[in-house]
Amino acid sequence: MSFDRHRKLRRTAYMRDLVRETKLTKDDLIYPIFVTETENTKKEIESMKGVYQISLDRLHEELEEVAACGIKSVMFFGIPKEKDACGSGAYHDHGIVQEACKLSKKLFPEILVLLDTCLCEYTDHGHCGLIDPDTKDVDNDSTLPLLVDTAVSQARAGADIIAPSNMMDGFVTEIRKGLDDNGFSHIPIMSYGIKYASKFYGPFRDAAESAPSFGDRRTYQMDPANRLEAHRELKSDLEEGADMMIVKPALSYLDIIRDVRNQSDVPIIAYNVSGEYSMTRNAVDQGLLEESVIMEQMISMKRAGADIIITYFAKDLCRMLDEGMK
Ligand code: PBG
Repeated sequence: MSFDRHRKLRRTAYMRDLVRETKLTKDDLIYPIFVTETENTKKEIESMKGVYQISLDRLHEELEEVAACGIKSVMFFGIPKEKDACGSGAYHDHGIVQEACKLSKKLFPEILVLLDTCLCEYTDHGHCGLIDPDTKDVDNDSTLPLLVDTAVSQARAGADIIAPSNMMDGFVTEIRKGLDDNGFSHIPIMSYGIKYASKFYGPFRDAAESAPSFGDRRTYQMDPANRLEAHRELKSDLEEGADMMIVKPALSYLDIIRDVRNQSDVPIIAYNVSGEYSMTRNAVDQGLLEESVIMEQMISMKRAGADIIITYFAKDLCRMLDEGMK
């Protein structure tokens, strides 16, 4: 008989461990946390079982759990008490994520804090920038200085990484310059420059109370049908000084992650977004799928070329890794 015997390398668990090409470790994980300005709160998000809005006075509970799991990086999203047309809560030095960051750095100085530079959680209309009164569309250039103020204030609060998700043109150039001019040339930018206008963000907008009150985000986020557009976004963000690139969402966009990996040598981050989390969480909780599908999804993102994964499953994954799941 003449054929290849591929099963030789699959014969035992140790053999499979030896030849496994893709591995997940705790070092790869970034855990998002929703922090609310409403005191004494720990409220489960209805559309994201196991994920909470938590107040500053109880944030230590969440951080202690994170540290005990072995998670090394967190990302804060804010739910302010007050919102206004220009999102001023985003660039206030005592804004909710600035305070969360200061507390986290005080309690667990070694845990990396990433802050998302965007206005949508802070604007009363829910868009990621200022609205032009004539066109009712987000105005790019007048939004940029506010994003710079936000990033600088986040760096001043002690953020280790600035992660802008607003999708305005030129945001990397402007934020880089703002950080450099204010003494933060050592702080890297993780750009969410490849961000699609996706319905998979639905549960996040419940969690962060940031759904747009009119229209949608399709004039600034990318069309899910486009692949070459991702190459153009990648090219300009790298030229503008991005240190790392996020592709978002992840699971329906594995081809894009692979393209970005093949075209750049910066760290690539897959954002396993809220809708992806909720679909899998519900299927597992209802017993329709085994829990190990969570690991399979993470491995698929890494196999596609991601180095790092932002995921609401981070705590579950740490437990699975402790139990020896691969
Ligand atoms: C802010 C932002 C969003 C997400 C991350 N940062 C929402 C959006 O663009 O509407 C979504 C994350 C998720 O769905 O988990 N612009």
